[in-house]
Amino acid sequence: MGMVSTETLFIQHFGNEEARGMDYYLEKMAGYSALKKALQMSQDDVISEVKKSNLRGRGGAGFPTGVKWGFIPKQATQPKYLVCNADESEPGTFKDRDLMRFTPHLLIEGMAIAGHAIGSNTGYIYIRGEYTREAKLLDAAIEEAYSKGCLGKNILGSNFSFDLTVHRGAGAYICGEETGLLNSLEGKRGEPRVKPPFPAQAGAFGGPTIVNNVETLSAIPFIINRGGEWFAKLGKLEKSGGTRLFCVSGHVKKPGLYELPAGGVTLRQLIYDYCGGILGDKKLKAVIPGGSSAPVLTPDEIDVVLDIEPLMKIGTMLGSAGIMVVSEDYCLVKLITRITKFYAHESCGQCTPCREGCKWMEDVLHRIEHGHGQERDLALLLDIADNINGKTLCALGDAAAGPVTSFVRKFKADFEEHIRGKKCPNA
Ligand SMILES: Cc1cc2nc3c(=O)[nH]c(=O)nc-3n(C[C@H](O)[C@H](O)[C@H](O)COP(=O)(O)O)c2cc1C
Repeated sequence: MGMVSTETLFIQHFGNEEARGMDYYLEKMAGYSALKKALQMSQDDVISEVKKSNLRGRGGAGFPTGVKWGFIPKQATQPKYLVCNADESEPGTFKDRDLMRFTPHLLIEGMAIAGHAIGSNTGYIYIRGEYTREAKLLDAAIEEAYSKGCLGKNILGSNFSFDLTVHRGAGAYICGEETGLLNSLEGKRGEPRVKPPFPAQAGAFGGPTIVNNVETLSAIPFIINRGGEWFAKLGKLEKSGGTRLFCVSGHVKKPGLYELPAGGVTLRQLIYDYCGGILGDKKLKAVIPGGSSAPVLTPDEIDVVLDIEPLMKIGTMLGSAGIMVVSEDYCLVKLITRITKFYAHESCGQCTPCREGCKWMEDVLHRIEHGHGQERDLALLLDIADNINGKTLCALGDAAAGPVTSFVRKFKADFEEHIRGKKCPNA
């Protein structure tokens, strides 16, 4: 155990307001040299470098980025679009915000490179409505990039043109789901679409579209400058390249952002070696490893390596790497009730199992939390969750059901205590 030594890409710039300016980016961060290099490469060569890098989507699903870009049909007659998902609404996740406010040019450069690779001349950054400061900072950085010929017509003297626009959301979690996002971008209700067709075939305005997360796109300049193989080796497991920004919140002594090699540390190392252990040296009670959508883990499960496959193997997920740590004196029934209330509120209402089921789970949890639950409520919760899971158009249903099932199964005694004692024992 102990700390691992690693190269970091992003975190050294967080907190440094100078880093967000074009001059600093050009002088100190080799700014826009990757774009220059990429523009001299063929589209296929850029995509193959990204494939080699083992970069996997940082938005939640972990899909290999180069493979996704390869799905864009070459012969399409309609315009193609590149969309950056900057909705960052998953509870417990706060990495894209620092990327946008401290290193916006990495994102802009990454998007211009991606635009070239997929043959798109139009990009959008769809940013969550609450990020007003970040939207303004992005607008300012985009303006600087235009003024230096890094965006717009004939970028850096090439025959490639790329326009980039920031589009602000209005505060809906569902607009982080990529097809809900595309509908919202088009001015429609943010309701997820039926898939297929996937965005790469028919996305924004009916054109082939790539949607990628902020962290995913911000990694692209490094991959082009230093090579896919170098990036792949930053990761410690075979399939996952690069570093990951872990967002740690809750009852640890040092919460915050940690940039570590993908697959390079266990959950235990992160909590105890990096974050200084549990507040007040209390006992650990539970950990949510990948944003509130990820099934919960018990203290016995934290020797798992923090990466996509190891977490999947034990029935949870890395998701957006939002790690929420809970100490022994916090009520888990209260926690899952609060999480479920969020999903019930954010359900778009298109699919009956999600619209009705999330609210129903919230109501049952609420009555258990407040001492009005019955023994049969636990089986009822599992049954409702089972009737949501896998039965909706988008993954919001699974995101609501998985946590409820895991809390009830793994912490049954906590629920029973509330039911039998007719009150919250922690209150
Ligand atoms: C309900 C829901 C909310 C989501 N919210 C976000 C989000 O806020 N940011 C994000 O990047 N991806 C979010 N996703 C994942 C996106 O649908 C999509 O997979 C991602 O933007 C793809 O980018 P990547 O391949 O770079 O990860 C969400 C998915 C679901 C089902």
